[in-house]
Amino acid sequence: MDFITTSEKETKRLAWRFAGYLKEGDLVLLEGPLGAGKTVFAKGILKRFGVNPDKVKSPTFTVIKEYKSGSEFIYHIDLYRLRTKTELLNLGYEDYFYSSQALVLIEWADKVESMIQKGIKVKMDYVAINKRKIKIEFKNHPEFNFSL
Ligand SMILES: Nc1ncnc2c1ncn2[C@@H]1O[C@H](COP(=O)(O)OP(=O)(O)O)[C@@H](O)[C@H]1O
Ligand SMILES: [Mg+2]
Repeated sequence: MDFITTSEKETKRLAWRFAGYLKEGDLVLLEGPLGAGKTVFAKGILKRFGVNPDKVKSPTFTVIKEYKSGSEFIYHIDLYRLRTKTELLNLGYEDYFYSSQALVLIEWADKVESMIQKGIKVKMDYVAINKRKIKIEFKNHPEFNFSL
């Protein structure tokens, strides 16, 4: 599935609609360069789960941020500062990837692509100042359809 968005607001709306199909145990792999909109997309998802987007900051320095929505947990992970897979294994973060009790969102998931066997890949690319290309791919995950 391919989308083009022409504003931050539109990307958030797309993410919000996408999030309607998500549940605990799902893994969302956010990929693309710095400034592509991965955090914006994560905010749209979190909004659907009742998290105030103003409170969402990419956990670049903390690596992981945990939210709770009703009885559901959401882990927002940012691997920007991750240098090696060994580093990740040493920190034990891979356990978070496979949590069946949480919805997991990972920014810079391309860095650990080979470790992850299933999930929904959201590949974002910068096209122009306010324009982004967003490609959704299902990786051993049941497919669903939605529109902008
Ligand atoms: N169509 C768009 N979709 C998402 N973000 C956009 C769009 N157009 C402009 N932007 C801007 O691009 C930036 C994306 O930042 P961010 O989500 O933090 O990127 P990343 O997490 O991928 O590094 C924000 O400043 C946002 O306002
Ligand atoms: Mg980010």
